[in-house]
Amino acid sequence: MKKAMALASVVCVVVLSAVTAAWGQAAASSMPQIVEKDGRHALLVDGKPFFMLGGQIHNSSSWPGMLPAVWSAVGAMHANTVEMPIYWEQIEPRQGQFDFTLVDTLLQQARDHHVHVVFLWFATWKNGSDHYLPQWVKLDPTKHPNIVGRNGQPVDSPSPINPAGMELDSKAFAAVMAHLKDADPQHTLLMVQVENETGAWGSVRDYSPAAQKVFEGQVPAELLTPTVLKQLNRPVDAKGTWTEVFGADADEYFQAYSVAHYVGQVAAAGKAVNPLPMYVNAALRDPITNPKASTYESGGPTDNVIPIWKAAAPALDLVAPDIYIPDSTKALKVMDLYTRPDNALMIPEIGSSAEYTRYIYADLAHGGIGFSPFGIDDNGRAAGAEADAARLAPLAQEYAVLGPMDRELAQWAFDGKIKAIVEKEDHANQTLDLGSWQMTASFGGAGAGGRGARAGATANPAGAAATPATGRLLVATLGENEFVLLGTNCRITVAPAGANKGKAWHFLKVEEGHYDNGTFNLLRIRNGDETDGQGVRFDAGMTAVLHMTLYTR
Ligand code: DGJ
Repeated sequence: MKKAMALASVVCVVVLSAVTAAWGQAAASSMPQIVEKDGRHALLVDGKPFFMLGGQIHNSSSWPGMLPAVWSAVGAMHANTVEMPIYWEQIEPRQGQFDFTLVDTLLQQARDHHVHVVFLWFATWKNGSDHYLPQWVKLDPTKHPNIVGRNGQPVDSPSPINPAGMELDSKAFAAVMAHLKDADPQHTLLMVQVENETGAWGSVRDYSPAAQKVFEGQVPAELLTPTVLKQLNRPVDAKGTWTEVFGADADEYFQAYSVAHYVGQVAAAGKAVNPLPMYVNAALRDPITNPKASTYESGGPTDNVIPIWKAAAPALDLVAPDIYIPDSTKALKVMDLYTRPDNALMIPEIGSSAEYTRYIYADLAHGGIGFSPFGIDDNGRAAGAEADAARLAPLAQEYAVLGPMDRELAQWAFDGKIKAIVEKEDHANQTLDLGSWQMTASFGGAGAGGRGARAGATANPAGAAATPATGRLLVATLGENEFVLLGTNCRITVAPAGANKGKAWHFLKVEEGHYDNGTFNLLRIRNGDETDGQGVRFDAGMTAVLHMTLYTR
């Protein structure tokens, strides 16, 4: 029997039909914004927290002929937002002459497909290089000099010590943002990424004579505040040249400040005409080993220089990690590092293979505002709908369930009500502490959560580590004894803890169903074999949503 049930304790009931109705309309709606409360964040869309279930398309897919395949992928994965590059080289093919037809096409087609967009401004920096500069800039090196390496070698990366280039990029970005203000009163566009994976590969900084002169000057005042200096582990009254203040880190910090200042100016120019949320993405460094700056993209918003980016580029709302690190210890550490009272966690790129899907739950548990696997479309391979569905199945499984409850999830994340477990590579049991209760997830490898999973098992024996870790559990605490659980590929046992420790207990009710339009729709009540004995099962290959209440005797 199917019965619609209102979940009385859901804090934020959202009328999704109103949101859906707004898609096609040209009426102005409220500006998307990122808000902060008690050190946590929300992306407000139409005035309410929204979680971006996104997908980023390939770099060369924002062209009209590529879009049918893009929409096929977006539909197959049930995304609510698509991240799409827009190209300075296409938008300003001749200096001062702007062409916004492509941007307009992207917006219109996104509306037709009922999704939001995030635009990625591919301009001075794309993966540390200058390859998206318009030809009229590329062919005039005075407009955009590249970095000179320590030994005088040319480096394929734009110099950030370039006020003229900064002005050209700022003007172009401001023109795009001004156009978007008029072209998008309904705010199909949620956020804008300014540049892409800034910094330099192949040189820690620019050693050209012009850059050297600036490097030998004083560290700018924005970095010499007690807050910034403390976060960089320097004396709060430090001042002087880059080398005097930052010693062995001077080269990297100089590059980070220079890039951040440049990008911050570009963002500020755009924001002055259209104050949408703006962010930058980072090519990460290893989050645990503190590697040498010469081994990663130097000057981008890596975890060690976040305070520099915050101080030098206040027009940016956040700095965001591109996560291509499958290892769960490292991936979770990255999320810890980018979740700060002054920085909302948003994951604008992450691998799209099955193992990465489980990190959606970790993102939500960190209070994150969005998640967007990279390379969702077929990239010109004419793969077709069936291939799209097969390629995107792990994500689609999750997005299909999370999509109709994205507003609830966003509100719970904002309120700090979500905790999560992602299966580790050793498949060991993990326990969530929920105050008066504990929940332990066990994993049985491939097909686990199915019959083979054993409650109470510890790490699987050697050899099992090769089995991909895909299990996951999300728990939203709605009341002392009331929880919403989402999960796949694991099994849960519950134990009384804290004030309930030692008490007799049982499930009061375990309802399985799905959310839609702010309502929990009941599929069945799980009882008997489905709760007793081995615990509560979440099968592989499907995401179940449970509304669970517990009681003590
Ligand atoms: C990270 C970049 O930000 C993307 O634009 C793309 O180049 C991917 N790497 C490719 O893996």
